[in-house]
Amino acid sequence: MSPGDDIAVRLVAPAEASLLIGLIRRCYGETYIDPSFYDEAAVSELLASRRLHSIGAFTDPGQLVGHMGITLRPHGGITADAGMTLVDPTFRGRGIARRVAVGLAEQSMALGLVGVHDYPVTVHAATQRIGAGFGVDTGLMLANMPGDVVFQEIETPAPGARTSSLIRWLPFGLAPERNVYLPVRYRAQIASLYAEAHLSRITLQSNEGLSELESELEQAYDERRQILRVAVARAGGDLAARVEAEIREAAMRGALVAHVDLPLADPATPMATEALRVQGFSFAGLLPEYRDGDVLRLQRLADSVDETALSVLSTDATQAIAALVFKDRGSMST
Ligand SMILES: CC(C)(COP(=O)(O)OP(=O)(O)OC[C@H]1O[C@@H](n2cnc3c(N)ncnc32)[C@H](O)[C@@H]1OP(=O)(O)O)[C@@H](O)C(=O)NCCC(=O)NCCS
Repeated sequence: MSPGDDIAVRLVAPAEASLLIGLIRRCYGETYIDPSFYDEAAVSELLASRRLHSIGAFTDPGQLVGHMGITLRPHGGITADAGMTLVDPTFRGRGIARRVAVGLAEQSMALGLVGVHDYPVTVHAATQRIGAGFGVDTGLMLANMPGDVVFQEIETPAPGARTSSLIRWLPFGLAPERNVYLPVRYRAQIASLYAEAHLSRITLQSNEGLSELESELEQAYDERRQILRVAVARAGGDLAARVEAEIREAAMRGALVAHVDLPLADPATPMATEALRVQGFSFAGLLPEYRDGDVLRLQRLADSVDETALSVLSTDATQAIAALVFKDRGSMST
């Protein structure tokens, strides 16, 4: 019998929320990135509402030793966020994460998702290796992980420093064909990511300026990560000023990183990108089918953040996307 044969992969039931919390504690102690995952009632409700689909690896006696999650987004859509990849320290290195990943693919297809976005950490290469060759690395979010998250039983290259996470597109179905407006400065790079991901996209030229109407933004501040997230629904001439004001306000609450998501279906996005670059934003990644089509994510770090904390990058493709992100950040004055 090969190691892991006594493991069954199946969905975690709402009544098993405490098993998931126990596994999180064995992997992260009290330092897990989302504190709500220590609250049994909240986790149970999340599972019951099916906003979280938890794929678990169970031992014969019913102990939860491996896990991956699919989190549906509040605005729905044909993609979701994958993550929460956890394997009990005493069960690692036996291929359990890979088996759970197969369960995740099956569940994604059963949910009718054309793909999921996964965000492998760069403090180690394990999760990067699981989807390598299948998924496409489309971005790198610099310093998005606080330095106090402790990965139990894993040696990390820069303990205590904020670290970066990849953006990885894992396709599970045929995405619709789409028209996109690509910022000129990223056109070649995004087109090559589309080609790599076999996404059918028609690039249209845009001469459109920013609307005279006010920008429409949705913003949320993630206290634990110290990240301000802004999604642009409409980019008006006031975009840069509005984003700057949001950043100032979030900085008072401790924000260190800002992300701005721009819809590539919007002809104003090329102009919006240039306006934000002047404000110090640079390329974070492409998120296919993230929200009403594809999204371009830009990022900006506070001066106090050292984004160069050593990253473990497993493959050439991973290194290539990281190089693009660093090059764009390094050429901020152009
Ligand atoms: C990451 C984690 C889930 C891997 O679980 P696992 O069951 O040991 O992984 P598997 O045995 O299925 O191996 C998957 C791949 O990762 C590699 N791997 C496993 N542990 C590794 C490590 N510490 N460093 C580098 N590679 C590692 C394996 O070699 C394998 O790749 P390969 O087939 O190309 O050789 C586990 O280490 C864990 O729970 N870590 C703490 C939580 C965490 O970091 N989650 C990921 C957040 S993105």
